[in-house]
Amino acid sequence: MARGACGSRVKRTNIQHDTAKGFSLGRFGDDPHAFFGHVYSDVAPWEVGGAQPDMARMLEDYPPADPVLDLGSATGDLAIALALQGHNVVGLEFVQSAVDRAREKAAALAPEVSARLRFEVGDATMPSALGVRFGSVLDSGFIHLLDPDETDRFVADLRDAVAPGGRYYLHEFAIEFPIDNVPRAITGDEIHSRFNADTGWRVVEVRPAVFHNRVAQPTPAIVACIERLAD
Ligand SMILES: C[S@@+](CC[C@H](N)C(=O)[O-])C[C@H]1O[C@@H](n2cnc3c(N)ncnc32)[C@H](O)[C@@H]1O
Repeated sequence: MARGACGSRVKRTNIQHDTAKGFSLGRFGDDPHAFFGHVYSDVAPWEVGGAQPDMARMLEDYPPADPVLDLGSATGDLAIALALQGHNVVGLEFVQSAVDRAREKAAALAPEVSARLRFEVGDATMPSALGVRFGSVLDSGFIHLLDPDETDRFVADLRDAVAPGGRYYLHEFAIEFPIDNVPRAITGDEIHSRFNADTGWRVVEVRPAVFHNRVAQPTPAIVACIERLAD
């Protein structure tokens, strides 16, 4: 175990990718790890140089509690934005080169800011494997990569990674594209059916949003803040 952000113990989750086993992201083909790794051989289209504005606004309106976990943290921009505000953040990402870049960016920050950041290579479909109860989990464009059955497993695991009273913030595409290797739509109805008193959650707010990118018009999206109820 390693000493993580905010002094919490973070289990090392470095993964050896097993192509036979794969990751549970069936909509990205037989080897989603290779798919995303290839995207990071260039600047990824979702890398807009900072936090997505609609996610940033939701975080301003409902300030996150520490420690913060950023799922699918890419090259670290959202995690760094939170660390600059004083939060202790763990970024979890399965592409090594993206994590290397995030660590380079963190190392270039003021020492007191980089001390609040930790970037781990690991599988964000199982956040509880980090062995930490987070005050907040941020999901900027992660669960829309998962098919509904994969999302079932992720949401069950997520509950073990969020402290009672903690929050899950999500920002996902809200429309379907009829092409391969793109995210699916997450609707307000899906959010309410997955996160409710019966499943141990409370939806604080859901808003229409857009997801910016470097190559095309912004994509219609949805942003939500959800609270984990006590056991
Ligand atoms: C659509 S991008 C969004 C990146 C970033 N959060 C943002 O808002 O710009 C999804 C990210 O999740 C990562 N990812 C996909 N599947 C993953 C998994 N199973 N575990 C960890 N990271 C994963 C991808 O490599 C990519 O960096």
